[in-house]
Amino acid sequence: MTENDQAPLRVIAIDGPAGSGKSTVARAVAERVGLPYLDTGAMYRSVAFAALRGGVDPEDGEVVGNLAESLSIDVSPEGTVTVDGVDATIEIRGPEVTRAVSVVAANPRVRGEMRRRQREWAEVRGGGVMEGRDIGSVVFPDAALKVYLDAAPEVRAARRSKEVTDLDYETVAADLARRDALDQGREHDPLREADGAFVVDTSDLSIDDIVDVILERLG
Ligand code: DC
Repeated sequence: MTENDQAPLRVIAIDGPAGSGKSTVARAVAERVGLPYLDTGAMYRSVAFAALRGGVDPEDGEVVGNLAESLSIDVSPEGTVTVDGVDATIEIRGPEVTRAVSVVAANPRVRGEMRRRQREWAEVRGGGVMEGRDIGSVVFPDAALKVYLDAAPEVRAARRSKEVTDLDYETVAADLARRDALDQGREHDPLREADGAFVVDTSDLSIDDIVDVILERLG
């Protein structure tokens, strides 16, 4: 069989900033269309987790690049994350990893390795619903559907502060603004709307509404 005979991958890319509703929506869409789901942000968080755990400076591009290329990362569909055999499910969502992850995600070697793994993940499964920042723009620019979810900064901060009960709204809003600036301003694969992306402002929509709009678009 030649390469052209292979069934095309069915990838649904869901990108957007933190608090845009990506994770909940991507999971629900995956369930409704019967495709596997991957949270690619958990992969970048896993690299940051491993760096912190190993006493590596997240800013040290070369050491973090080597680390990413040799690291075993397992992100299960249920959301458990195992990094080199260690259960990192809780810690990758904690404040230390959240602070360090943007600089790790700006590292071009880390990005190259994660991109390679993400493409492989979809290829062995025939596709999937993949959420992140650059899925539609870089990882799968030919995805069957590219969605970009967005919402007003104060709405996103309010959603996030409901999830992280130990931090006040101001702290969460400031952290979100800092991460937005880093994700959008980085040199390699910055967060942006992919060409041809279906853009949804989720500020005034419920999760069910967003899922319905996406499924309608999918046809
Ligand atoms: O979605 P999240 O907050 O878990 O993402 C964590 C970090 O990883 C965030 O700073 C952006 C980065 N990221 C990325 O650069 N590319 C992706 N495809 C997914 C996440």
